[in-house]
Amino acid sequence: MNSAIILNSRPIGKPASNDFKFVEEQIPVPDDREILLKALYVSVDPYLRGRMSDAKSYMPSFELAKPLQSAIIAEVTDSNHSGYKIGDIVSGNLDWKEYQVSTGEGLQIIHTAEIYLSAYLGILGMTGIAAYLGLTLIGAPQPGETMVVSGAAGAVGSIAGQIGKIMGCHVIGITGSDQKAKLLKSKFHFDEAINYKNTVDLTRAIKTACPNGVDIYFDNVGGKISDAVLNNINKNARVPLCGAISMYNETSQLMGPYVQPLLIAKSALMQGFIVSDFSDKLPDAKKQLFSWLRSGKLTYHETIINGFEKIPEAFLGLFEGKNEGKMIVKV
Ligand SMILES: NC(=O)c1ccc[n+]([C@@H]2O[C@H](COP(=O)([O-])OP(=O)(O)OC[C@H]3O[C@@H](n4cnc5c(N)ncnc54)[C@H](OP(=O)(O)O)[C@@H]3O)[C@@H](O)[C@H]2O)c1
Repeated sequence: MNSAIILNSRPIGKPASNDFKFVEEQIPVPDDREILLKALYVSVDPYLRGRMSDAKSYMPSFELAKPLQSAIIAEVTDSNHSGYKIGDIVSGNLDWKEYQVSTGEGLQIIHTAEIYLSAYLGILGMTGIAAYLGLTLIGAPQPGETMVVSGAAGAVGSIAGQIGKIMGCHVIGITGSDQKAKLLKSKFHFDEAINYKNTVDLTRAIKTACPNGVDIYFDNVGGKISDAVLNNINKNARVPLCGAISMYNETSQLMGPYVQPLLIAKSALMQGFIVSDFSDKLPDAKKQLFSWLRSGKLTYHETIINGFEKIPEAFLGLFEGKNEGKMIVKV
């Protein structure tokens, strides 16, 4: 039998395990010009929270009683398609199913024996690319500048900070535990790390860690953490808005500080982006990340949870900071 995970209910506030439902079905048989795929690695990502709601956004909402989807690495186990053979490994935006058929549309064959497959969901996937393009195109780092990253020990943040170091910046990470703060310095070579959960005055802690002020703030979390960083920005600062996970489960309109006077006074740039804005730059971004990875300039970390049945739990764990680096489920 085949297992699938469908959207059982639209979460109100923080998603819970009963928003997901497991269903059993027959393993499908590929038709003409179709392939059968077996899921190997499943990416869980904060943006899926938005797709679970029915609010309009840049990606369509998941439908109730239909499978959720995310980036998945899968193996071709049967093929009636001339472009794919049994044993090929592909990546694509696929249903949360152990087995599924596909026409091959939107899939990419992964040809490599050098890099762990799961890396194609993280450093060589959407999160690594978001870090690279958001930082280089909007953050525009210059040697000697000070850069702060929030969500720093996560998939995007850990790569953004390392790229900041490659570009010659002084890099400070904000994260949610002492263990993660340690990881930022020992594995990713951040200059300083701040645990926001045990820091009483974050504005002051950032000021102390950034004596020359903040030139770039790579924002993965939004909310109060970002308010504290913005209190420390320099003239001509750049603020790539990558994510706002601290606000994704809010049910009411949050009232934060109004940032316009600050941005004017500092001649600062704040720009939101989604990876697909830069679709023409994706191949070059992947090439650069791959090259830094191979040369050892970049490294990455993963939290791998075993078992298809753990996908909802892994997803829910993102909102509790249970991951270090990219959260991935190995089926
Ligand atoms: N713009 C784009 O194209 C793009 C692409 C990929 C991701 N994103 C966004 O980038 C951000 C990071 O994504 P990711 O995939 O790398 O996830 P991630 O950082 O690997 O995982 C989420 C992390 O967010 C932190 N977090 C959870 N709740 C929080 C809260 N209330 N306040 C502060 N931090 C909280 C947790 O770390 P702590 O232990 O540190 O709290 C958690 O480990 C997300 O906001 C995501 O939506 C955007």
